[in-house]
Amino acid sequence: MNLHFVSVILIILFGTFNQILFAQAKDVSPILPSPVVYKRVKGNLYLPKKLSLNKSEYPENIRSQFDVLLEKFHKLNTVDTTGKAFIRLRKLKNVPKDFYSIAVNDYLLISYSNEKSLFYALESLIQLIQTEDDIKYIPKAFIQDYPKFEWRGLHLDVSRHFFTVDEIKKYLDLMAFYKLNTFHWHLTDDQGWRIEIKAFPKLTSIGAYRDSTVSRHFTSQPREYNKEKYGGFYTQDEIKEIVSHAKQRYISIVPEIEMPGHSRAALAAYPEFSCNNIQKPVPGLWGVYDDIYCTKEESFQFIESILEEVVNLFPGEYIHIGGDEAPKTRWKHCENCQNRIKENNLKNEEALQSFFINRIDRFLSKKNKKIIGWDEILEGGLSPNAAVMSWRGMKGGIDAAKKSHYVVMTPGSHCYFDHYQSKSKDEPLAIGGYTPLEKVYDFNPIPSELNTNESSFILGAQANLWTEYIPNLKQLEYMAYPRAIALSQSLWCHDRPSYNSFFKTLTETHFLFLDLLNVNYSRSSLKPNIDIASIKNGISIKVNAHDSLDSYKTQIIENDTIVEVFDLKSGQPLSIKSTEKNMTMTDLKFTSTKNNISSGIRIMRHLGLGATTNYITEPNPQYNYNKSLLTDGQYGARPWRGHEWIGFDSSEIVFEIELATKKKVKNININFLKSNGSWIYLPNKVLIYKKRTKRWRLCKSRKVKNEKTKFKINRRIRKLRFVIRTHEQIPTGLPGAGHTPWTFIDEIEFQ
Ligand code: ACM
Ligand code: ZN
Repeated sequence: MNLHFVSVILIILFGTFNQILFAQAKDVSPILPSPVVYKRVKGNLYLPKKLSLNKSEYPENIRSQFDVLLEKFHKLNTVDTTGKAFIRLRKLKNVPKDFYSIAVNDYLLISYSNEKSLFYALESLIQLIQTEDDIKYIPKAFIQDYPKFEWRGLHLDVSRHFFTVDEIKKYLDLMAFYKLNTFHWHLTDDQGWRIEIKAFPKLTSIGAYRDSTVSRHFTSQPREYNKEKYGGFYTQDEIKEIVSHAKQRYISIVPEIEMPGHSRAALAAYPEFSCNNIQKPVPGLWGVYDDIYCTKEESFQFIESILEEVVNLFPGEYIHIGGDEAPKTRWKHCENCQNRIKENNLKNEEALQSFFINRIDRFLSKKNKKIIGWDEILEGGLSPNAAVMSWRGMKGGIDAAKKSHYVVMTPGSHCYFDHYQSKSKDEPLAIGGYTPLEKVYDFNPIPSELNTNESSFILGAQANLWTEYIPNLKQLEYMAYPRAIALSQSLWCHDRPSYNSFFKTLTETHFLFLDLLNVNYSRSSLKPNIDIASIKNGISIKVNAHDSLDSYKTQIIENDTIVEVFDLKSGQPLSIKSTEKNMTMTDLKFTSTKNNISSGIRIMRHLGLGATTNYITEPNPQYNYNKSLLTDGQYGARPWRGHEWIGFDSSEIVFEIELATKKKVKNININFLKSNGSWIYLPNKVLIYKKRTKRWRLCKSRKVKNEKTKFKINRRIRKLRFVIRTHEQIPTGLPGAGHTPWTFIDEIEFQ
């Protein structure tokens, strides 16, 4: 929006009024996502109990939704009039796509460009109304608004866990309230097929149910299963009902039918479309499986018949065909697939995947649909019409945009809402990763590598909600909100307010809205940041609140007994000394006096607590978030969350640790992480050196066999050098084969 345009509209709408107040600072809008223009004007518009409007001006779906929200939020109603209405509408032409404006003066004047923008205007209007002593009013203001990106999405995986029709509707309602407009419905995956296909009834009678589901995190050993049958699916009538519900909210649904991988549920029902015809059950373990669709003709016909029904159910432009995480193991050993490669002069199995996607692209193009797939569809050559959903970072999206393909950005770093949202130990189990609200807020779907023309291929972005660890709607809402609002802000706003300003509007106004909507949103963003630093012979802890005036009732707990209670101001340092003898565990609990939210940390007080580390080998900056981490008394979390460990990606790691004074140390325990799926392996060997006169002398060395590796020291020490050697390469057959293994360490205990 250029300024010239703003002023023209201001004159059109306010030409007869002369009390426009041009505030010095930008006025803060209560509406989220924040509008392009929010200009406060002197005074308030007080609302009658019944807001009159001209019924004929409103499509039925818009009016009824407005009525419901008005009643729910403000106990107000609308009433029809044929005369001058309290809410007046005006249609605009030649304005940006989905543009609307609201002038709040002596009545409400909504100017809009299409039905969708009228709907958005009314959603915004709901957010403008305030109450004081039971009196309803809107601060007089002028609002102008339209979205920056066309694709503002939320995804939902209904395969790993199933959500009912009513739950999906609630998810859509919330999306609409925050002006998100694309619902990516991940309907099929290994652990369950969720859409009725009339031509292949076994897809749901067999494919929609698994016999058992893995308990706890899937990397936890030994693996345990709950041995309960689990599943469900949507009938075609239910799909139609949801499509219609979404349409009324101006949300387009992108159904995903995964291929060629993540197809175990389909192949459990119809094993004849796999490479080896072997029937295997619908799995209850999360992961990536070798069994994928074969590329024989019968398999294509099977998939095309499915898509034929899918296309008829979903009126939207795009069909998502998956394409991610498809191991080529079966294709390599399949006569049919190898023949396909030869017949078509293909280079390898990656080219066969490209051939696969190409064929589906041609089929769907004939049905007037566009395909979109995960960024793996770039491998082996991108199909001519395909759009790319970039999930393994932004690179796939950048490559695709440079080739003039449309792109939706959904990088794991900012858009995976199955990641943890705070570092607090009491977050419910999640898959891993760390994507706090502020990080989502900072997301920009346009990477700096793209020029203006290339950037025009970025349709927008979406957040993905994979549901391995999201078993129900409550947990779904907890993971999605408020992060989805931060995402909407990144996608809607042309010029985002600061995070602090957003955070204030969010927590002071929108948390109340979410309460009214009965949403189980996360309040983790209100938790303070807890900073730990080394001090002489111990650590210093600072609890930094978002509101610097906050203070914390602090409890020190030892052996489950509260030993001390005191008040700690935000930012005030609290010191914890290292032990002089045996290791002891100390728990600290901080409860905010402002919002009553508690956070806790657990500290292992060992002889080396707060010892300084000098890194000769630099840790990878992606994971090295705190220099004192190796001796801060806190252990890296399991399952691994992506932080809280020092991560190295070199084959020799060297660092020195210096205690505050010379101490008699019996043992040193080094805690490593083993998470092979993330290419994190135990190292091969550790050597510990002690400084004698001017030279480092080897004091201990041993091979690493376990995550916790113990070294008997039994002497007085102050400064040690650690040399850690990894295996040269990850061996063939293991995740990340051929690469240098990652080494993750935390903590090093001195006993
Ligand atoms: C994905 O997360 N496998 C697209
Ligand atoms: Zn095959």
